Amino acid sequence: MLARRALRCAARRGGQRPPVRGLRVSPRARSAMPSWVIDRYGRNEVLRFTRDMVFPAIQYPNEVIVKVHAASLNPIDLSMRSGYGATALNMKRDPLKIKSLDTEFPLTLGRDVSGVIMECGLSVSYFKPGDEVWGAIPPWKQGTLSEFVVASANEVSFKPKCLSHVEAASLPYVGLTAWSAINNVGGLNQSNCSGKRVLILGASGGVGTFAVQLVKAWGAHVTAVCSHDASTLMKKLGADDVIDYKSGNLEQQLKTLPSFDFILDNVGGSTEKWALDLLKKWSGATYVTLVTPFLINMDKLGVADGMLRTGVTIGSKTMKHLLKGVHYRWAFFMPSGPSLDEIAQLVDSGKARVLSCAIKSISKHGEKAKTLVLHAEQSLKRS
Ligand SMILES: NC(=O)c1ccc[n+]([C@@H]2O[C@H](COP(=O)([O-])OP(=O)(O)OC[C@H]3O[C@@H](n4cnc5c(N)ncnc54)[C@H](OP(=O)(O)O)[C@@H]3O)[C@@H](O)[C@H]2O)c1
Repeated sequence: MLARRALRCAARRGGQRPPVRGLRVSPRARSAMPSWVIDRYGRNEVLRFTRDMVFPAIQYPNEVIVKVHAASLNPIDLSMRSGYGATALNMKRDPLKIKSLDTEFPLTLGRDVSGVIMECGLSVSYFKPGDEVWGAIPPWKQGTLSEFVVASANEVSFKPKCLSHVEAASLPYVGLTAWSAINNVGGLNQSNCSGKRVLILGASGGVGTFAVQLVKAWGAHVTAVCSHDASTLMKKLGADDVIDYKSGNLEQQLKTLPSFDFILDNVGGSTEKWALDLLKKWSGATYVTLVTPFLINMDKLGVADGMLRTGVTIGSKTMKHLLKGVHYRWAFFMPSGPSLDEIAQLVDSGKARVLSCAIKSISKHGEKAKTLVLHAEQSLKRS
């Protein structure tokens, strides 16, 4: 009788169970949570809001469960919604094909998160429940457009104190991608960057705006390439020279400038054919591109042939440019709590600003999240 009354009461409250006196119902005891998921690849029609996504569980002792306060979108989310990278990501998800459920669906998109630690695995001592953290979850794991997400403790970091959750959620994925390209792959850091001439192609995007601020904070001379309407923003972020790629021949404009020590290419395509000629020869100068055929090769050719094609491509390009006295490299997003610690310091010390917007509280703003997916796609099309 009492149980039936409680259920009727729950129905009146829109499905939420009323608190039961005498029993402590911890959030961990839940089995379902709200999420945006996809059940197949396609356009925005495949996005589905559900309140019944399986509640995540800690599987390894170094994992934490984060309650998502804000999440955000990147071009990778739109590409993944359409199936980009599915072959490689599925191999990473289940390399030995031993999972009982032979599918990645329902799949939650979203890489960025800012939130609060809810539960820690047995070997996690650096964080405790209640800590405010930010992070970027690797694309082979379930994403952050959800009320809770599981991450390795190595993938999250204490949120910058000066940022709200919404502000914080817009930085980790682009910040870590820029960090990976500039620091891990390009070899630039605080102690060797001063006075170096750095060129950023696609400087007004998510990765570019952080990259400009990072190398500027390390003392580089920065040339930013973007469209005219972003030039004021670039100057505010510290760029020394700003070049509008829509006004005349970009290659010719850049050739009139002194040579560069480092180029970060966020655009790819035809830029790769001429950009390496802008580097200083035989001085360790490096070109790093974020636009690579790695995942597309695997999608088109399968794992083995895709990896072979990728290896041949990167090997031949590296050798060709090495013989001309410059370094050619590919870079990828790398999840890293320690790198986020350093990014948080830059943000808290006022050396890097946040420019994008994030989606707040997935459970309360489900429809808003879908609208933002549409807006993100439209703005990507415009660019
Ligand atoms: N390898 C990886 O792991 C990895 C990780 C993250 C991102 N990425 C890739 O890196 C690229 C940048 O990512 P993002 O998040 O910064 O994307 P984004 O926010 O969409 O920014 C791209 C920017 O490129 C600019 N742009 C377009 N064509 C250009 C041109 N010809 N010359 C100069 N600028 C141009 C656009 O600026 P305007 O509006 O001024 O035209 C836009 O702001 C994307 O292609 C993304 O797929 C790769």
